[in-house]
Amino acid sequence: MKTHTLLMPLDMHLHLRDAVMLENVAPLSAYSYSGALVMPNLVPPVATLDDVQAYKQRIMAAVPNDYFEPYMTLFYKNYDKAFLESVVDDILALKLYPAGITTNSEGGVSSFDIEEMRPTLQAMSDLGMPLCVHGETDGFVMDREAEFMSIYENLASSFPKLKIIMEHITTKAAVEMLDKYENLYATITVHHLLLTLDDVVGGMMQPHLFCKPIAKRPEDLDALLSVALQAHPKVMFGSDSAPHPQHKKESCGCAAGVFSAPISLQLLCEIFDQYGKLDNLQAFVSDNAQNIYGICPEFKEVVLAQRPFVVPQNYSGVVPMYAGETLNWAIESVE
Ligand code: NCD
Ligand code: ZN
Repeated sequence: MKTHTLLMPLDMHLHLRDAVMLENVAPLSAYSYSGALVMPNLVPPVATLDDVQAYKQRIMAAVPNDYFEPYMTLFYKNYDKAFLESVVDDILALKLYPAGITTNSEGGVSSFDIEEMRPTLQAMSDLGMPLCVHGETDGFVMDREAEFMSIYENLASSFPKLKIIMEHITTKAAVEMLDKYENLYATITVHHLLLTLDDVVGGMMQPHLFCKPIAKRPEDLDALLSVALQAHPKVMFGSDSAPHPQHKKESCGCAAGVFSAPISLQLLCEIFDQYGKLDNLQAFVSDNAQNIYGICPEFKEVVLAQRPFVVPQNYSGVVPMYAGETLNWAIESVE
């Protein structure tokens, strides 16, 4: 049986939620990942030092028996430098959402006026705090990410020392930005390495594949695959696994978010193996993130094997991507 070993896998964009949902989903990521960058879009958002510290404790309490590092983020607002200095040791990055653009982002940014943001972004740059961005405008749904590129360019050129991570990129336009600005990086999800809009709404509508940003065109998928499979050093894996209760997905008014946490490593192995690039998966799923964020996760060794794995219909009431389908790779052991 063919196997593949990964060391310290990292998920650099993860929604863990809170309360019972947190208790149900956090162990699934903690099982196979060494750490994850935890998104701050709770209700209300994680926006104070107390919020960050208390949320981290709740996460640790939800995964008592596994080693797993929650790398914390703070919900971006135009904070002053003194505040940022007080949180610098407790967070790995700030996460910026345009107001109202996705789930629980109502308190996000409503103006990208550089002068309004300058004190905060300059302080972040001085303190070495990366900025993670949900890069979508409120334009036509298929164009939202491409329209955001001029904002990325403005941010990247105005703050050349600020590390800016274009989160969950879905377009060729975003891929092209990587080699244009030294300080632009990106995360890519596993679902955006598999899907186009056709898979979401081309036949029967698939609520469990619906997320923001929406999966795009075949040429976008090709561009994402090319940088992921070569493990471009400015690109890292971030699942954007975003669990919602089944009734919020299978309803009139489906919540955005794909729940992939329990199957993401298996799918990544399948994709990289299919293209003969398994040797690059380690960089995509861990080494690049370690270099970009300057983090050193604790040791974890995950062995995957090429054998059938039937995806469960649900995990405590949350339906995963590809529920009921058979994957070609499974997790064999974790140490
Ligand atoms: C995310 C969520 O549900 O929190 N949803 C999604 O579709 N990706 C928010 C986000 O990352 O946009
Ligand atoms: Zn997200």
